[in-house]
Amino acid sequence: MPIKRDGEYVTFGQHLQEQQQRFPSASGQFSWLMSGITLATKMIASYVRRAGLIDVWGDEGSVNVQGEDVKKLDIIANEALKRTLGYRGNVGIIASEEDNDPRVLQDVDPEDSYIIMFDPLDGSSNIDVNVSVGTIFTIFRNPPEVIGVEKSVLQKGVEQVAGGYVLYGSSTVLVYTCGNGVHQFTLDPQFGAYLLTRENIKMPEYSRTYSVNEAYLHRFPESYQKYLEWSKDPEGGGFSSRYVGSLVADFHRILIKGGIFLYPPTEAHPGGKLRLMYECNPLAFIAEQAGGMAICGEGQRIVEIQPKAIHDRTSLVIGSRKNVEEMATFLK
Ligand code: AHG
Ligand code: MN
Ligand code: MN
Ligand code: MN
Repeated sequence: MPIKRDGEYVTFGQHLQEQQQRFPSASGQFSWLMSGITLATKMIASYVRRAGLIDVWGDEGSVNVQGEDVKKLDIIANEALKRTLGYRGNVGIIASEEDNDPRVLQDVDPEDSYIIMFDPLDGSSNIDVNVSVGTIFTIFRNPPEVIGVEKSVLQKGVEQVAGGYVLYGSSTVLVYTCGNGVHQFTLDPQFGAYLLTRENIKMPEYSRTYSVNEAYLHRFPESYQKYLEWSKDPEGGGFSSRYVGSLVADFHRILIKGGIFLYPPTEAHPGGKLRLMYECNPLAFIAEQAGGMAICGEGQRIVEIQPKAIHDRTSLVIGSRKNVEEMATFLK
């Protein structure tokens, strides 16, 4: 049930106000920016919920900078976010999975603006078959002293001001952190508000569930194969398996129930498939704030990786602390 304070439900906007009072770093500008995300994701949710009734199934016809066939809903989600965030007046740079280059917005105060990057629709391959999809976003300060878009956006994950996602699942939930805990809001379709439904989420420290695309098992490095063989062995880990194929859905299950998600290096993606800036960094920020862990294939913290390009990819091992630590022993 939604959480009440003084007998009233807590909306996302109220929660941000509370955060500002308690943590001066979250300025009023930040709340105004976040209202752009809530507006855009309500719009996206309305399209997702009507897939099949309106023309949002299937490919749009182009191929994006990732080399993927762009889905109609990828475009709709991307446009919704760029439109709402483009007019906040305090967003200096926008970057998206779907756009080749970051976009610099005009008429923004260079001394006090933000950079926002997003995966507008995560798990696009699942749209036509009614499986959960999501939106992932990350927010940095736009450093006025840094000249040049490329340098401004290529910040390590530890510099994130906020990270979050919206999961368009059985219900629509927004999960975010701005460094003061992880909080979940559920969209009430009755009156279109995100209401606080979980506060200060703590990830279970261990769970016998792993999440990986088993089809690529024999193309993973030896260390991953050994770990997965061990985890399946009734005399070893005795794990169960869950894999949705939408990163946000797989991660959200782990945030709430614990376990471990892996996207190892493969021949197709020797450096890993998932994107560092707008998939792995925000989820790593949330995982660590919830007491979990997020590393890359070499065992480095995801949020300490220095990006070289906006669409950098990385291998990812993320989830419950004890699960990730246990898996890391196989990487040695
Ligand atoms: P996107 O739809 O934003 O391109 O992301 C898809 C990603 C992620 O959602 C998921 O975990 C992964 O692709 C699934 O990859 P495989 O199909 O190779 O398992
Ligand atoms: Mn994609
Ligand atoms: Mn994605
Ligand atoms: Mn995507």
